[in-house]
Amino acid sequence: MCGIVGYVGHRDCSDVLVSALTRLEYRGYDSAGIAVFENDKINVAKSKGKLKDLVEKMKIEGKPDGFAGIGHTRWATHGEPSDINSHPHSGAKVTLVHNGIIENYKELKEFLENQGREFLSDTDTEVVAQLLDYYYSHINDPIRSIIETTQELKGSFALGIVFEDFPNKVFAVRRESPLIIGVGEDENFIASDVPAIIQYTKNYYLLEHDEIAVLSKNEGVRVFDSHYQIVSKELKTADWDVDAVGKCGYPHYMIKEINEQPTAIKNTVLPRIKDGMPCLDECNINPEVLRNIRNIYIVACGSAMHSGMVGKYVIEDIARTAVTVDIASEFRYRNPIIGKGDLIIIVSQSGETADSLAAMRLAKEKGAKTLAIVNAMGSTIAREADMLIYTHAGPEISVASTKAYMVQLSVMYLFAFELAFAKGQIDEEKYKYYTSKLLETPEMVEKVIAQTTEISQKISTKLLTADSLLYIGRGLDYALSMEGSLKLKEISYIHSESYAAGELKHGTISLITKDMPVIAVATQSALYEKTVSNIKEVKARGAKVIMICQEGNDVPKDIADYVLKIPNFEEILLPMLVCVPLQLIAYYTSVQKGNDVDQPRNLAKSVTVE
Ligand code: AGP
Repeated sequence: MCGIVGYVGHRDCSDVLVSALTRLEYRGYDSAGIAVFENDKINVAKSKGKLKDLVEKMKIEGKPDGFAGIGHTRWATHGEPSDINSHPHSGAKVTLVHNGIIENYKELKEFLENQGREFLSDTDTEVVAQLLDYYYSHINDPIRSIIETTQELKGSFALGIVFEDFPNKVFAVRRESPLIIGVGEDENFIASDVPAIIQYTKNYYLLEHDEIAVLSKNEGVRVFDSHYQIVSKELKTADWDVDAVGKCGYPHYMIKEINEQPTAIKNTVLPRIKDGMPCLDECNINPEVLRNIRNIYIVACGSAMHSGMVGKYVIEDIARTAVTVDIASEFRYRNPIIGKGDLIIIVSQSGETADSLAAMRLAKEKGAKTLAIVNAMGSTIAREADMLIYTHAGPEISVASTKAYMVQLSVMYLFAFELAFAKGQIDEEKYKYYTSKLLETPEMVEKVIAQTTEISQKISTKLLTADSLLYIGRGLDYALSMEGSLKLKEISYIHSESYAAGELKHGTISLITKDMPVIAVATQSALYEKTVSNIKEVKARGAKVIMICQEGNDVPKDIADYVLKIPNFEEILLPMLVCVPLQLIAYYTSVQKGNDVDQPRNLAKSVTVE
């Protein structure tokens, strides 16, 4: 969602802000703006649309020229995308950018209007700017007025702030919404995420809730708590470089990230293997903890939730422990029956998804143990969970998740194997066997990428004219096809649903018309014949069938228009292989439709508001 950046240093500030915002484009946005000190005046440029529109506008109207300032990409929540609603917003002496949602903005606006203040935009952010300006006009101390203001705010916020009276200083504060402080040589930064600043520095501080940072070129960075006390911070260093956030010759981030999957799996799985078996001790997970688990809930959103669907089938099958998978936005409001002895697994690439975070906090309140499976280091979910397994996918820039989903799957397996062994459901031989197979997956995924790219491309040309399609499967294939369907929808804009194949006859089969594409996943031997029967049913009603099965499967004549074969492998692990052609089909469909693959319309990478 919205992206925030800020800079003080020796470089051309406008250029730094635009370049840093470009690295946050993946978060999704519909307008952009910057505010830069020109000597001691704050000069604002903002525009509806993409960063290139802002750059064009600045070419015509002039680019703010200076060495300190703040910038923003906005994903509209309060008020349509427009020049006026774009950030920065200002009061008399204060200009700021905001990520998050202010829940009590109406009451605050009413109060400020009663004080004679006027508003230009429909945003909740302008209310914050005016409120801060109101306090500043009374207190005249920037930090104290930030403290007073944030005490009044309900909701989530990360703010980048400049005060006209403090040229060449940038202030920042956050609650719930993410914000980091980048530390360079005679230059400092604020940003919603590390990729924004990685080309300038790898060193950063994580700002905690309600902490206030003051950045300047010569005095460095000072951080205060909400009692105006100096806080000393631990300097962190990103362990990846600028290539990780570039396209490296690929036309889109999505295809780059699909190709990075073998490495991502290795980075995630290898450090967790000891003597041929998973060892999650460093994540505070050990056999005793596992043996005491009563029920498991996997709670997440989107693709992360889909990885949990695969996890459910695997954990229940081999560890014989009940697993409920929940959509975080449902879980948090349905008064779930959870408590001591239950384990809630929260899965999240960004570690900042508002609903997943709220679900985790609710689970804690109710006495359950929480385990987070998170990709973004130091994110809020990672910091607040009782137990934590980091996935090591590296930065995922494409809005459509691929490598993050893949490594979430790999962690589901690590966890399931360890749980099954701890609970005595599998013996050491089986435990080591499963682990050895998991260790083979990077090589297998690489092979599948090579083998299925061409056919996936061909299949995608057949989907271009479809209005709608179905993904069907049973068991693990059904769990996986949910992700295939989401991938296609989000980037190709073609409607699709994933359906349990056995459920078709109970209503959905009425949708099948001549040439409607049906992607049928049939990789599980025990269910193969059953799925084949379901495929015959849709074929008989005119569907164009794309069947995905294992090499060597006996595919009855005339049931499929295309057959995409996956190498034989340990069946429980096949979702990690089969997700590759599903990703590729979605990718090539989107490319051929001329869509914005990496930044699909209306979507944001990290959904930090409800
Ligand atoms: C996946 O392609 C989506 N962009 C989306 O469903 C995503 O997985 C979801 O919003 C959850 O995000 P998180 O993993 O950062 O919590």
